[in-house]
Order: sequence, then structure tokens, then C-alpha cells
Amino acid sequence: MIVCLCHRVSDHAIVSEVRAGCASFDELQDTLRVATACGACADCALDTFERGRDSAHASACYAGRAGHDRAIVRMHASVA
Ligand code: FES
Repeated sequence: MIVCLCHRVSDHAIVSEVRAGCASFDELQDTLRVATACGACADCALDTFERGRDSAHASACYAGRAGHDRAIVRMHASVA
């Protein structure tokens, strides 16, 4: 879906930037120029950014938890 008509920025592009490490909405605007012209897309762009950030955080936490669980399994295997 196109979020920003002025700069033809899609929701996928916003989420991709978040997953690539974009940490703030200001940084997103610098990179994609989203919401830097008429501003009509600002609320939708910010919402998409925040949802992408929450989703990326949840994935990182799950990956961290999975790594932790594997370490516990290896530790138990080495003791047994
Ligand atoms: S629609 Fe995004 S700045 Fe105009």
C-alpha cells in the first residue's frame, strides 16, 4: 500500500527501513522523505513506522529467547 503519495513511499518500504535499523521517525523522513511534503500522510506513516518497530522488536526478542533456550539445552547436555 502506498502511504505517501507525494514521494511514493509504501508501507513495505517503511517496514524495510525499520528492519534495517532505522531508529526514529526523523531518520525515516531523512531516508525516505515520507511526510515531508504536504504532510497528509504523517499520521499513517508514523503509525506504520511504530507498528514496524514493534514487530521488529518482537522478532528480536523471540530470536534472543530462542538463542537463550538453545544455550540452556547445550548446558544441560554438557552436564549430563
Ligand atoms: S502524501 Fe506524504 S507528504 Fe504528501
